[in-house]
Amino acid sequence: MSEDKNRYGQTTGHVWDETLAELTNPPPKWWMLGLHASWILVVLYTLYYPSWPLVSSHFKGFAGWTAIGEFEKDMKEVQDVRAKYEDQLPKKTAAAILADNELKNYVVRSAKVLFGDNCAACHGSGGAGNPGFPALVDDDWLYGGSIDAIQQTITGGRHGMMPKMGGNQLSDAEIDKLANAIVGGTIAKEPLFAAKGCIGCHGPDGKGMAALGSANLTDKIWRFKSKDQLASVKYTITHGVNDPSDPKTRNAEMPSWKGRLTDTQIKKLAVYVHELGGGQ
Ligand code: HEC
Ligand code: HEC
Repeated sequence: MSEDKNRYGQTTGHVWDETLAELTNPPPKWWMLGLHASWILVVLYTLYYPSWPLVSSHFKGFAGWTAIGEFEKDMKEVQDVRAKYEDQLPKKTAAAILADNELKNYVVRSAKVLFGDNCAACHGSGGAGNPGFPALVDDDWLYGGSIDAIQQTITGGRHGMMPKMGGNQLSDAEIDKLANAIVGGTIAKEPLFAAKGCIGCHGPDGKGMAALGSANLTDKIWRFKSKDQLASVKYTITHGVNDPSDPKTRNAEMPSWKGRLTDTQIKKLAVYVHELGGGQ
């Protein structure tokens, strides 16, 4: 069999189909070098890192590396960066945070998650608003857009109140007139607006009062937005807002976060909301 040779070298004697032979030539040198380099690397690797199982534990490796150790090191780095800012927050007012650009940027970034977890369900992601819940990204505020007003809104909650005007207060024709003037942007000139006491809450110019959260009726930014805005305005006038005497009244309840979020978290959110659409 060892005599079995063909033009490529020694064969094992296995020949198929008369021409297909299995040779005994050693693999090429580069391939053998690769093979030895590989197992040497494997041995070094298992010595360096934790590897072999032992009876009650495992070989720890000479490098002292552990996955949890690496994780803890990374976490510590993150916490060190955060601590630099977090330590300042309890001592600073929201207005002071706002005035410090670097601190403000940190707070806006870190409050994003807080907002998503606690506020977005009602106010929409990024504060874009939802039907029945005010947008926080515009410059239109029911209760004022100063940093203090926003902080107060989040801390204590808000509960806008407008009595129902339907039934014996206003006739259908009067509601019709008022609603058309509001949607048409001419409410300040409508005599019923003063005569029926609307100005007591919405102001003589119809622009609303932050202390009451009474909506601005002249800016076409609707608190109760609808495809049929005239019908929506009539509905609000008829049934009021949060009027306990009318079961069809509109609900508008901003919950209080005192006790549910820490003071620092509320401060962060106030800064965040202010930066979404701050100003007046
Ligand atoms: C359960 C629903 C709900 C949740 C949750 C909620 N809000 Fe509100 N929020 C409202 C409603 C409703 C109003 C409007 C109140 C009104 O019309 O009188 C409001 C009003 C506000 C206002 C005043 C807007 C203005 O125009 O003056 C701010 C600011 C605000 N919310 C911030 C937040 C923040 C920050 C969070 C998260 C901590 C949050 N809200 C969570 C329902 C909610
Ligand atoms: C006691 C105070 C009060 C009086 C009086 C009052 N309103 Fe209001 N009104 C409010 C408040 C507060 C809101 C906003 C409610 C909220 O979003 O929490 C409001 C909201 C509205 C809205 C909804 C606006 C929108 O953007 O969707 C309309 C319309 C309205 N009022 C019309 C009137 C008219 C017309 C009168 C007079 C007939 C009147 N209101 C009298 C307090 C009042």
